[in-house]
Amino acid sequence: MSSNQDNTALIEQAINAMQNSHCPHSGFRVGAALMSSSGKIYPGTNVEFDAFSLTVCAERSALFNAVSNGDKKFVKIAISTNSENFKFPCGLCRQALVEFSPELEIILVNVKKEQKIVNLRELLPNFFKL
Ligand code: THU
Repeated sequence: MSSNQDNTALIEQAINAMQNSHCPHSGFRVGAALMSSSGKIYPGTNVEFDAFSLTVCAERSALFNAVSNGDKKFVKIAISTNSENFKFPCGLCRQALVEFSPELEIILVNVKKEQKIVNLRELLPNFFKL
């Protein structure tokens, strides 16, 4: 568990990505920053479309960014939203992330910059894998 480590840079990148959120339909801003085992950080944000089902969550944006840059093993992800409550990643994002890194540490960040740390395994036990 790396929860005692300094997550400042990771959280900062998630918050920066959140500012770029394209959310004309929901107004719900989400930023994610995914750290690979090599220490690189990949940001992502949610992108919404008029054709609603095309919407991509911030977590998967970050994952696609990382994989596009050749990284496939991850240690932690910071997820920041403009909500007062801690918002957990959706089921689709849990499955997408678990297929790459089941032990992923998840740092949830609310609008007050408070943090809550959970592990992906506890959010998605008995996950599907081919
Ligand atoms: N959203 C995320 O970015 N991550 C999640 O885990 C859940 C939802 C986005 C999608 C959409 O743009 C907005 O939040 C409202 O559902």
